[in-house]
Amino acid sequence: MKKRILTGITTTGLPHIGNYIGAIKPALEFAKDSNDSYFFLADYHSIIKNNKPSEISSSVENIALAWLSCGLDTNSTYFYRQSDVPEILELSWILNCITAKGLMNRSHAYKAATALNNDDIDKGITMGLFSYPILMAADILMFDSTHVPVGPDQIQHLEMTRDIAARFNHLYKPIFTLPEPIIHNEKKVVPGLDGRKMSKSYGNVIPLLESEKKLRKSIMKIVTNSLEPGEPKDFNDCTLFELYQHFANEKDVLTFKQSYKDGISWGEAKEILFNAINQELKPVREKHSEYIEDKGLINDLLNDGAKKARVIAKEKISKIREVIGIKDIS
Ligand code: TRP
Repeated sequence: MKKRILTGITTTGLPHIGNYIGAIKPALEFAKDSNDSYFFLADYHSIIKNNKPSEISSSVENIALAWLSCGLDTNSTYFYRQSDVPEILELSWILNCITAKGLMNRSHAYKAATALNNDDIDKGITMGLFSYPILMAADILMFDSTHVPVGPDQIQHLEMTRDIAARFNHLYKPIFTLPEPIIHNEKKVVPGLDGRKMSKSYGNVIPLLESEKKLRKSIMKIVTNSLEPGEPKDFNDCTLFELYQHFANEKDVLTFKQSYKDGISWGEAKEILFNAINQELKPVREKHSEYIEDKGLINDLLNDGAKKARVIAKEKISKIREVIGIKDIS
């Protein structure tokens, strides 16, 4: 059976190498083997977490640029903004009506957000945050995706999507495909400058689309221990080493390991990491500087992508409406 891959990135913040390693690169690898791939900008998810319009629009632009600069081929994929496909929101409401509130109560993201509240457990919780997994289910079920590449933190959302789809199929007619997650980097969380998971909310990211100089500066800031040059070093739990593994082949990783045992200085190790990342990002930066000169083109590509995606979405939503009894009077 042909795989239909679908994944989205929430448009908050600027793209960093965690997005690149964790989402963009594996998604583009899958796209090579399957010409049925859906990649989108989850802009309606982003307003759950951020209500600064200028930050949202700049993030949309930059995340679109990141996908394109990393080599996404818009001819052979569906590349669109979630907000340009209103059928997704329509489906989201329909799914809201069949989803048990109790299922949403169990969401890790919702529980984490309420965990710090004392008397009023729902303080600061919006309905958007609460029903976030339903919008995500609509993204996925709209296009009958079979496989969804996600990071380990999204597994529960995929399980919820399957629950919601199964409930709809049982209640009405079996018209939704139950998607499988593809979990990449199961063990390896991409670490940021301070060793914690690379994330905009920790302020520890290495940017993807910045200049060579800024990339270098950022890598030099990675926190290491205080072992001196010449002292043997442990590559386990070392941020530099973990990042290096994503950018080097096996042979180079072995050599790097040996250098740790031989007491490489942290300065040299950072230089080696910088060169490896820089080498891989050079073509990305080149494409980026071409695209950034032509913002009209980015809009055109996204509009075309939405047009293509809406053909599929419209067909599906009319089937769904029919099934639930929203149809012409006959
Ligand atoms: N929730 C995902 C994240 O924050 C983004 C996302 C939204 C998504 N809709 C999706 C991912 C559908 C995969 C499929 O990373």
